[in-house]
Parts: sequence; structure tokens; C-alpha cells
Amino acid sequence: MLDVTATRSLHTQRFGQSPAMFAAPGRVNIIGEHTDYADGFVMPAAIDFATLAAISPRTDTTVAIRSINFDEEVTYPVDHLPTSASHQWRDYPLGVLSVLREAGVPIPAFSLTLNGDVPIGAGLSSSASIEVASMVAVLSLTRADIPMTRVAQLCQRAENHFVGASTGIMDQFIACCGAEDHALLLDCRSLEYRLAPIPSHLSLVIANSMVKHSHAGGEYNTRRSEVEEGTALLRRHRPEIRLLRDATPDDLVRWGQEMRPEVLKRCRHIITENIRTVAAADALESGDLKTLGRLMYEAHASYRDDFEASCPECDILVDLAGKEPGCIGARLTGGGFGGCTVNLVENSQAGTFSEHLREGYREATGIEADIYLCHASAGAHRIPETEGETQLAR
Ligand code: GLA
Repeated sequence: MLDVTATRSLHTQRFGQSPAMFAAPGRVNIIGEHTDYADGFVMPAAIDFATLAAISPRTDTTVAIRSINFDEEVTYPVDHLPTSASHQWRDYPLGVLSVLREAGVPIPAFSLTLNGDVPIGAGLSSSASIEVASMVAVLSLTRADIPMTRVAQLCQRAENHFVGASTGIMDQFIACCGAEDHALLLDCRSLEYRLAPIPSHLSLVIANSMVKHSHAGGEYNTRRSEVEEGTALLRRHRPEIRLLRDATPDDLVRWGQEMRPEVLKRCRHIITENIRTVAAADALESGDLKTLGRLMYEAHASYRDDFEASCPECDILVDLAGKEPGCIGARLTGGGFGGCTVNLVENSQAGTFSEHLREGYREATGIEADIYLCHASAGAHRIPETEGETQLAR
């Protein structure tokens, strides 16, 4: 469990100064996968796994960044910060410094301690939580007054241009703007959003298939270029299609046959996923849980069959969940090719549900799944000094 007090002490012991503390959460996406970079809709929730950033100013000209998780510390002269990635944890805070500098924010000398409990490589956005925690911490030492939606955009830029993963805005946005007990429906074009309460009788159960995934390079970027190929073709017929957000199922009926078969399937997933995501937000807001659940299962099927971004292990988890009483809906969440499933489950059934899921998964695959009972949490925030004893509650 993430211990604010211990993180604060570790920082003070190492750097000799009491830090200001910040937290930024990981996320689960309830629905809307690979729609963000098509300017579409997503509906994630921040979760109660987070990265803590403890920061204090320095009087020399050094930037020191320490990771408790990796038990490693790096230091650089503030005027000679790395300008390219090293494919290690430090790329995330360094990417943040690089984009802040580009945006005209002078980087101060500081000591930063990072400590997180978002499972790494599980599709719960550990990277975005590190970026956002680092950025709000560093900004607190500057005079720059940057709104949270802009912080999200800058952190996405760090991920795209420094880390080298062509991801969309979803993870950084929810890490910035999430709200306790709410899902967030985001229009990734306008960045307008609305918060929809998650009914208090429902638990967010996250099941980790333990199949690792990674975004930098690999399948994620391949999918993205397939989507771009399909978009370019549709745009030739209808120039007003900037991104797949602007395309309709009818466009695919008319011109889909001109695409490579796999490109057609990728586009079909995104176009239908946008429709499902908006409908799911309406269903959540109107309390129509049956429709919400159905849309989640349909989204999983589309992710599996059309986007081909699932894996056999995650399909098993979703199938098992669907047979359990009290499960409203289940699907693979996040970038795909492994990671976690998200399950909306009646509170009264959540314990049995988790046990059954773990047993069934072990029987089917021989793998021991981690299962987390989460609740929707707040986005990035400063932790008050007085919050001495508080652990990030779970
Ligand atoms: C990753 C990316 C997001 C989004 C999802 C898929 O989490 O970081 O931008 O594309 O995958 O929905």
C-alpha cells in the first residue's frame, strides 16, 4: 500500500528537506478503446492506485530524481538534461521536463522522489500517473499557472515525443481530471467532459491477467497506423473526415471494401466503439445498468474480433465474469494485448465474484491472477501537509 508518510520520510532522509507531496492516479477504462487518437470518446475512471511525487527545491544547479520502485537515483545538471529516451523509468519524468522546457517553462533545480503502486505493464496507466505526478510536482516550484487539461496535453506530448509511444490523451487526461466515485466521459476532440456517478452499490473489480503489455513500439503503434491507413482512404471519398470520429458505419459499407481486410476491421471497431461509448455514458447516467453491461460485452467482442487486441487469457477472464451473478459487465481495459479486465460488479457479490474468477482462471490457464477491488478516485492533487498519517486509502 502507498504510504504517504513513509515516502515523505524517505525523501527527507535522502535530500535533507521536507518535500511538498503530490499524487496522480492510474486509471481503468470502462469503455472506449483506441478511440482517443481518432478524436472520439472514452469513459475511464481514475483508480486508487497512484504515483506519489515528493519534491523540494535545491540550491545548486542539479536535478535529482529518485525512484523508490526501481531503487535508483539519477542526477543531471539542470542545463544538460537528456534530450532522448533511454527506455527506462526515468524517461517519464525526463520527458516531462523536456516538454515543459519546450513550452517555455524554466526548469528549476530540484530533488524528486517517485513512489507508486500502479501495477506496471498491466494496462492501468502507470506511465501517465508518473508523468502527471512529476509534472504537477515540478510546476509547483515554478510560477507557471497551467490548467489541468493543458497538463494532460503536455504529458501526452512527453509520452509521444520523448518516450516514443504514439498514445492518445485518455490516460493523462483522467489522471489529471478524474473525480471520486465518478466515471468521466471525454470528447477527445474538444476535451469537453462530463462526470457520471458510478452507483454506490457497484464495485470496480479489476482482474490482472498477468500477461504483460507495452506501448512503446509493438502492436499498439501497428494498430494506430492501420487506423490511419483506413482513415486516409475514407478521406479520399469524404474530405471532411479528418479522423475516424467523423466517419459513420455507412461510410464503411460504401468504401470499406477498398481497404485491406484487417484495416476495415480496425476501422469498424473504432467507429462502432465511439457509438457504444456515448450510449454507455447515457446508460450510466440514466441508471440503465443492463444496457451499460451489454455495451461493455459488445465492446470486448469488437476489441477481440475486429481490433484483434485481446489475448486468450483476457477472453477467458471476460467469459468467466459473464457467468457470475452480480456482474453487470466485463471487458479488457486499456491498450490491449494483455493487461487487465474491468468488471462492474454488485458490491454484495464482489467477494465471491473475485474468488470464482481467480479459481476459474487458475483452472483454465494455470496462472494466478491478481484481483483488485477498486473505487473511482480523484485526479492529480497536492497532498496536504497535515495528511501525515494518511495512506492513500484502499
Ligand atoms: C493506451 C493509450 C491510450 C489509449 C488506450 C486504448 O492506454 O495510452 O491513449 O489509446 O491505450 O484505448
